[in-house]
Amino acid sequence: MSLNKRTERRIKLRIALILAAVCGLLLTEACGVRSDMQDQPRYKAYKQSDFFTDKRASRDHPEGTVARGQLDENKAFYTGKIDNPDPNAQAATSTDANGNTVVASFPNAITEFPLPVTKELIDRGEERYKIYCMVCHGQFGDGDGMVVRRGFPQPPTYHDDRLRNAPVGHFFDVITNGWGKMNPYGYQVQPADRWAIVAYIRTLQLSRNPEANLKMTSSANSNTTSATDPAKPAAPAANTATTKGGAK
Ligand code: HEC
Repeated sequence: MSLNKRTERRIKLRIALILAAVCGLLLTEACGVRSDMQDQPRYKAYKQSDFFTDKRASRDHPEGTVARGQLDENKAFYTGKIDNPDPNAQAATSTDANGNTVVASFPNAITEFPLPVTKELIDRGEERYKIYCMVCHGQFGDGDGMVVRRGFPQPPTYHDDRLRNAPVGHFFDVITNGWGKMNPYGYQVQPADRWAIVAYIRTLQLSRNPEANLKMTSSANSNTTSATDPAKPAAPAANTATTKGGAK
């Protein structure tokens, strides 16, 4: 055997040894010599647990838990109600031409829009109204929509004193939760869009009664709430933005 051949063999042997060592290392890794979070004691979802008296491994959320982004802190904006609604507040009622009792006062409803009323908001409201409400309430709110003409119970007109005097919070509540024979629309229509629709309904009412003392006023400062993203935290006023990097 020549010298060259012997060296060649030795090199091959070494490579084989190194390969074997690497394989061995990989194997021990794979067999779980290393322990990671997989191996800690834990429950699988919905499995039984002997630790808890009710035997459920999946626990309830602690009371008051709020999912991220769902704090809905601004009560007026999300419910149309005043901060401390009185559950026993007496609502005045009246009787309509058909002998039906109709609610005529809404003591817990807010009277001002909780967001700035802008042209964009009203335009958006018109669009949404035509999608969700017009089929029953009619193009101008007279309660003569196509569905009603085909037999659905007729809603009241928006153009009577009772609904003209109804606070904006009442309209918001009707959209959110429904009212009598009307289904709730809170599932389909986001809160900001519900307010947009309310603004449009007020516009319809005003269009027939320009003299009426109908409020389009807003309790929200246009600096603090944005009509398109009202859930957004208040934007800093221009002057705080400039002092931020300095004195603080
Ligand atoms: C499928 C038909 C239908 C649709 C769609 C509909 N409504 Fe109604 N709505 C009614 C009927 C019927 C009533 C009367 C309910 C009652 O008094 O039992 C009513 C009542 C109302 C009232 C009066 C509540 C009161 O104090 O008497 C308002 C305000 C109102 N709807 C707003 C809306 C808005 C806003 C939309 C769109 C988001 C909408 N409705 C969509 C049928 C509908």
